[in-house]
Amino acid sequence: MDEKRDLKFDKLAEDYDEGFEGKLSEKFYTLVTENVELSDGMDVLEMGCGTGTILYRLSQRCRINGYGIDTEEKMLEQARKKCPDMQILLAPCDDVPYEDGKFDVIAACMAYHHFPDRKAFARECARLLKPGGRLYIADPRLPLPIRKAVNAALEIHRINGKVSTADELCENFIGCGFIKLYEKHDSYAQLVCLERERQGGI
Ligand SMILES: C[S@@+](CC[C@H](N)C(=O)[O-])C[C@H]1O[C@@H](n2cnc3c(N)ncnc32)[C@H](O)[C@@H]1O
Repeated sequence: MDEKRDLKFDKLAEDYDEGFEGKLSEKFYTLVTENVELSDGMDVLEMGCGTGTILYRLSQRCRINGYGIDTEEKMLEQARKKCPDMQILLAPCDDVPYEDGKFDVIAACMAYHHFPDRKAFARECARLLKPGGRLYIADPRLPLPIRKAVNAALEIHRINGKVSTADELCENFIGCGFIKLYEKHDSYAQLVCLERERQGGI
């Protein structure tokens, strides 16, 4: 069977923030920015950073060292405009060009359900986070019939992605060096916070 495709965000990039996607994302942005534990000097990575809104908003809270990766160059162009002092790179979420244990915080906002290999993403997060570092994943929270329909449509159209429940999401990280700290939600948005184990490996 032929390989699955990624949804393309390049065409949306210029209007992303002001358009439907940006407005829909507001609940996810709020969940992340209100819950991430931050202090000055932390190294913070956003996986699938898109136009950089999360990195920008976190940088308004604390003096962070911000890093973003994404697979769509046009989304990254917008992120670089918004966050000119940050390192914003073209890279996939399962092969990120930074050293082991570099980051205090990793966030993935509205991106996890697009990632083609979520187990490889979990391993990469475990590699990149310091022991005790936190991973925050904000993703859609859909009732069962809608979730099933969305996932079936993605499968039929051979598009990478899957919308998960919070339990399914956490299960992917247990056994990869993470413990679950908590989950929260606000209607169709959910946030899961996991901690990189302080001892033990991947
Ligand atoms: C819905 S957008 C969210 C962007 C941003 N996080 C936000 O909340 O505004 C999803 C982003 O994930 C990126 N993405 C999809 N697959 C990816 C992958 N394998 N590695 C890195 N980024 C990926 C897309 O290019 C897109 O910019």
